[in-house]
Amino acid sequence: MTYLCVPIFVQDLAQARRDVALAAEAGADLVELRIDDVTDGELVGQLVSQSTLPVIVTCRPTWEGGRCGLSEEERFELLKKAEKAAYVDLELRSSLWGKIEQLGENHPRMIVSFHDFSGRPEKMYNVLGELNSTPAEIAKIVWTARTLRDNLEAFEILQNRQKPTIALCMGEAGMLSRVLAKKFGAFLTFASLSNPSATAPGQVTIEQMKGIYRWDAIGADTKVYGVVGSPIQHSMSPAIHNAAFSKVGIDAVYLPLLVNEGYESFKAFMESFLAMRGMDLSGLSITIPHKENALRYLTEKAGQIEPLAQSIGAVNTIRIDRTGDGEPKLHGINTDYAAILDSITAPLGIKREDLAGRRVAVIGAGGTGRTAVAALAHYGATVVVYNRTRERAQLLADEFNGKTGKVVSAEMDKLCGTCCDIFIHTTSIGMHPNAEASVFDGRMPKLSGDSLVFDAVYNPMQTKLLTLAKQAGARTVGGVEMFLRQAAGQFDFWTGQPAPVEIMRQVIEQRLTR
Ligand SMILES: NC(=O)c1ccc[n+]([C@@H]2O[C@H](COP(=O)([O-])OP(=O)(O)OC[C@H]3O[C@@H](n4cnc5c(N)ncnc54)[C@H](OP(=O)(O)O)[C@@H]3O)[C@@H](O)[C@H]2O)c1
Repeated sequence: MTYLCVPIFVQDLAQARRDVALAAEAGADLVELRIDDVTDGELVGQLVSQSTLPVIVTCRPTWEGGRCGLSEEERFELLKKAEKAAYVDLELRSSLWGKIEQLGENHPRMIVSFHDFSGRPEKMYNVLGELNSTPAEIAKIVWTARTLRDNLEAFEILQNRQKPTIALCMGEAGMLSRVLAKKFGAFLTFASLSNPSATAPGQVTIEQMKGIYRWDAIGADTKVYGVVGSPIQHSMSPAIHNAAFSKVGIDAVYLPLLVNEGYESFKAFMESFLAMRGMDLSGLSITIPHKENALRYLTEKAGQIEPLAQSIGAVNTIRIDRTGDGEPKLHGINTDYAAILDSITAPLGIKREDLAGRRVAVIGAGGTGRTAVAALAHYGATVVVYNRTRERAQLLADEFNGKTGKVVSAEMDKLCGTCCDIFIHTTSIGMHPNAEASVFDGRMPKLSGDSLVFDAVYNPMQTKLLTLAKQAGARTVGGVEMFLRQAAGQFDFWTGQPAPVEIMRQVIEQRLTR
């Protein structure tokens, strides 16, 4: 069993009791009472005896990254008052180890801890050896992750543990070590009560741990999925995919995976995670800035790549199958293009093939614009690309013109005189927090009941562009439709099961209307 522990910085008895009650209500197994700021020994005794959850008492000195400035002798006097605690945490570098017996015959179980806030401990394996050779029942090592690969080392420490062990990484890149601690058999992981109360950077709240990251369902065989990108902190994908796994009853967890820009970073991430024993990495969503890197990596590794993803030049979904001898076999697709196509063909009640000869305006020539143009050209549509930077629109037109359909470029200001009746907007104009803007401002095209306007922007859900189009009588489709369809496409591809679209839609809409 891996305990879920909430750290609580003690200010006074009332606050600590309230926080313990909140932790219990949220489903914590343990609390860590951080008594760094406490000097009154009686208070320590009261805190422990009044706690409704088993307690770890920690009085972290300043020289180990804590706030306690007391001498070792004074600290010991405080810790003696924690005799009824389940556990006491004492730093490896403390001079108090020789006095542990004085804590009483039935003294709390000891956790021996080592922290490095600057990065990976230089002599990691010496430190581990020392942690294992103290009389403490539990070893704890924590350091600041520089990249996702630090988490793998934490998992290896857990896999090779000689006693119950806590191995965690701090910082955004270390979040993985906290959520997957249970999969790798850690003694405990920490989750904060709320963000401001987090005692270590990168800590996940207990609400997120249980509600988003499926804490109760995680086990040794849980498959790992995630979204690779930078930045990635605000991605909605973990909430959507975890809710979908949960709904369908699949033993899997989906995580944000922060991988720095550049092919080498992407490759290093893939190689290390694919090689990690027991990781069960099974599928990835790929987002900015790694979609091209994913295609290149799959090409290098002779992975199977869907032809349209190849012609778009971007892979947004990877599935990892394992052959009999455990070798990973990679498959890459692009669910963005299908999401864009289906977002327009479904409301028009037509098949993709019926797009042949239809006149479509694609507004924007960035990543999403490019995907739209490639997909439409593939199905034979006649596409006009409008973009602020005309040269970029022209390059895109040159690349896809004549592949099946016809693609030309035009000045953005010519939009008002367009001959198209399907509009796909892919610029960031009108996106939160600039929701008052619209690409139609000053260049409103003639719309009718036969027109369809699709806006890739999904935040806000109802953009000004959609409002203007609706007022002019056109049919409209918002960016949520694309977001939902690309995510559902990924789920189908990974699991072979139809995605639970309604729960996924609910999660997206809930997050966007918060
Ligand atoms: N619904 C979904 O699932 C989904 C998925 C992906 C993206 N999106 C949305 O699609 C939009 C574009 O994303 P992306 O990844 O394609 O971005 P991108 O590659 O950076 O492309 C941005 C595009 O917007 C244009 N642009 C940016 N600011 C502009 C301005 N002030 N005036 C005129 N044009 C401007 C750029 O024109 P220049 O070439 O002149 O710079 C370019 O064409 C975003 O709103 C994003 O949220 C939605």
